[in-house]
Formats: sequence, C-alpha cells, structure tokens
Amino acid sequence: MAKTLIAFYSRRGENWVGGGVRFLPKGNNEIIVEKIKALIPDADVFQIDTVKKYSDDYMVCIEEAKQELREKARPALTAKVENMDQYDTIILGYPCWWGLPPMAVFTFLESYDFSGKKIIPFCSHEGSGMGGSLRALKQAVPDAVITGGVAIQGSAAAHCDREVASIIAQAK
Ligand SMILES: Cc1cc2nc3c(=O)[nH]c(=O)nc-3n(C[C@H](O)[C@H](O)[C@H](O)COP(=O)(O)O)c2cc1C
Repeated sequence: MAKTLIAFYSRRGENWVGGGVRFLPKGNNEIIVEKIKALIPDADVFQIDTVKKYSDDYMVCIEEAKQELREKARPALTAKVENMDQYDTIILGYPCWWGLPPMAVFTFLESYDFSGKKIIPFCSHEGSGMGGSLRALKQAVPDAVITGGVAIQGSAAAHCDREVASIIAQAK
C-alpha cells in the first residue's frame, strides 16, 4: 500500500525568532514534524541534512545561505530515502531562507522522480510566509502535484495545531 513520507530540513542553533536572535536547541521544523507524526503514526520520517554543516551563529549562517543561493548550490546530503517508489504522498517541511527553501531541499527534490506524487509543503518563517517557495518547488519538480501548502510562524511552532490540521487535510 502506498505510504506517506514526512521529509524535512531544520537547523538547530541561533535563529531569528519572535523579533530577536535566540538559540534553538531543537529546530522549529523538528517540532512541527513531531506533531504531524503523532497524527500520522504510520508515516515515515526523513531528515534532509547536509554533509557540510552551517554555522550555529545566526549572522554567519545567513551569509552562508546567501552565498549558496547566489551560486544555486546543491549541497551534498548525508542520507538517501530508501525506495522512494513506496510513497505516494510527501509532506515536505523547511524554513524560509531568504524567501526560499534552503538549497538542500532542492538537492533532495532533484534526487528522485516525483512524477505523479503529491507534495504538501509547509514552511516555517518569521514574517515571509511561504515566500517564493511554492513557485520554486513547482519549477524543481514540475511533474509532482503540489498543494497550496501551509506557512507556520516559527516562534509559534509549539502551538501550531490548526496549521498541522491543515497539512493533514491537504495530505488526504
Ligand atoms: C539563513 C536564514 C535565512 C532566513 N531567512 C528568512 C526569510 O527570508 N524570511 C523569514 O521570514 N525568516 C527567515 N529566517 C528565519 C527562519 O525561517 C525561521 O526562524 C524558521 O522557523 C527556522 O526553522 P528551523 O528552526 O526548522 O530551521 C531565516 C533564517 C535563517 C537561518
């Protein structure tokens, strides 16, 4: 039977949260994914992670990310999904970085055939909403069926039950 995969990128460390820089021991998307997984226990979870880590320092990290965006970098990932064919639905979470998903999300999307698969994007942010991410995802995987997605304020990640319900509804 076809299954659901929850794939996400999230970065621990200093981040911009609620109008200032704060150290996050757990990333906002990690918190959101735990909530989704609790409601879809039979879904598999895959963390998109880069071989080369970004700085824990927020100010350094935003420059690293800006440089990668300029270069259209495709950073190498630490792991691959075993047998992507078994999934018909992918819930895809990421933070908004300079208005777009981190470049690692594009490495992920370009590594598999998503033809005909349904992708439900959700994006944590501090004011930009989904930014330009829906358009960029559609360009990256034109043969996938991409839903409207859900934007979640990162500082409200622990209390985003309504947004999580919307993600689950789009996955059905
Ligand atoms: C490199 C970088 C760039 C960011 N750019 C934006 C942005 O353009 N718009 C925005 O609203 N938030 C931006 N943020 C804030 C993050 O999107 C936000 O804190 C998010 O919830 C972090 O999720 P995570 O903890 O799962 O990584 C940026 C954060 C970083 C580290």
